[in-house]
Amino acid sequence: MAKPISIEVWNPAGKHRVVSTKSMPGTRWIRLLTDADCRLEICTEKKTILDVEDIQALIGDKCDGVIGQLTEDWGETLFSTLKRAGGTAFSNMAVGYNNVDLNAANTYGIAVGNTPGVLTETTAELAVALTVSASRRVVEADQFMRAGLYDGWLPHLFVGNLLKGQTVGIIGAGRIGSAYARMMVEGFKMNLIYYDLYQSTRLEKYMTAYGEFLKSQGEAPVTWKRASTAEDVLRDADVISLHPILDKTTYHLINKDRLSIMKKEAVLVNASRGPVIDEAALVNHLKANPMFRVGLDVFEDEPYMKPGLAEQKNAVVVPHIASASKWTREGMATLAALNVLGKVKGYPVWPDANKLEPFLDENSAPPAACPSIVNAKLLGLEVSKL
Ligand SMILES: NC(=O)c1ccc[n+]([C@@H]2O[C@H](COP(=O)([O-])OP(=O)(O)OC[C@H]3O[C@@H](n4cnc5c(N)ncnc54)[C@H](O)[C@@H]3O)[C@@H](O)[C@H]2O)c1
Repeated sequence: MAKPISIEVWNPAGKHRVVSTKSMPGTRWIRLLTDADCRLEICTEKKTILDVEDIQALIGDKCDGVIGQLTEDWGETLFSTLKRAGGTAFSNMAVGYNNVDLNAANTYGIAVGNTPGVLTETTAELAVALTVSASRRVVEADQFMRAGLYDGWLPHLFVGNLLKGQTVGIIGAGRIGSAYARMMVEGFKMNLIYYDLYQSTRLEKYMTAYGEFLKSQGEAPVTWKRASTAEDVLRDADVISLHPILDKTTYHLINKDRLSIMKKEAVLVNASRGPVIDEAALVNHLKANPMFRVGLDVFEDEPYMKPGLAEQKNAVVVPHIASASKWTREGMATLAALNVLGKVKGYPVWPDANKLEPFLDENSAPPAACPSIVNAKLLGLEVSKL
């Protein structure tokens, strides 16, 4: 017998049953679903991470769609359960979907949504915060201060790295990587080197134009370069921030060998996914190279850190909060809800997942479309002409 799971119910008489595995920020997403004749059930279990059995129990015998989280394992078991319950839609409340087995979703004809765009600036800003904290040893200095150890200014106290005029390296120059690059270039006048499988023409044009602008102001222009390998970025850059998706090409992209070619005083930042770094190799590298620093938002075995990492003073660590701004989290909730609602209602898919502003305007009704369905093509879903 399925385990009882505690839930909160909105609009009990609604025709379509939609389940959210977590309570999400804001209320607009709830209103959008309930106004569209959905009965919404929000899981209120205290457990931080639901296991597959919990979610099966939530889906039950009849469920049209589920809004889920990146900490959940959406594979064969859950998609077959959802299909049996008559469901056609799942949306992650996240832009990344490495927790989702897309083949399984396709097999059961289930649309998989994600929430791009709204995370871009917020995530990039946290990566900047980690970069500055690690470069200028902010967390170490804070701990020192609180411990009552400060007894006067000293020339050597918490000396770190200057960012201005140094080189920032990006691996994965998509939405977030490009936003981070611009922040570092505009904020600290850093030169850029990037590696991506694809050319980032927009970023390149921006860099060239920004360099011209600086020249027109009598300042030294910034330079940019597209590297042909990740190694070129690691060798050249003073700060490296990782922003690729997680897949088999980026799993342990940063390993022992690649760490060894980086500058001894480099700063490495990861706000993408934990397994992009071989974290055990990183701990060894941090121990052997005290001037090398990292800023980490994500970890290989979340919620755990590899042994030894917590003791490293040259590591700044935060608990996967890169997207945690109010505006972003509410936007993510809205987009996830609209992905599920759109599929349940039989709406087409929005043509450009990079232009989702019309869905986020609180003062008007959202378009009758699913904002972002990652397997839309494979499922042959119609594209909106709106
Ligand atoms: N820490 C967080 O809370 C948080 C928040 C948002 C996103 N993320 C992560 O950030 C990732 C990037 O998000 P985005 O919106 O910028 O996605 P995006 O798709 O716009 O960018 C990803 C980029 O990675 C590149 N890429 C793929 N494989 C690569 C490889 N082997 N080497 C180099 N580049 C490669 C792609 O070409 C693309 O340009 C997400 O997939 C997600 O995992 C984390």
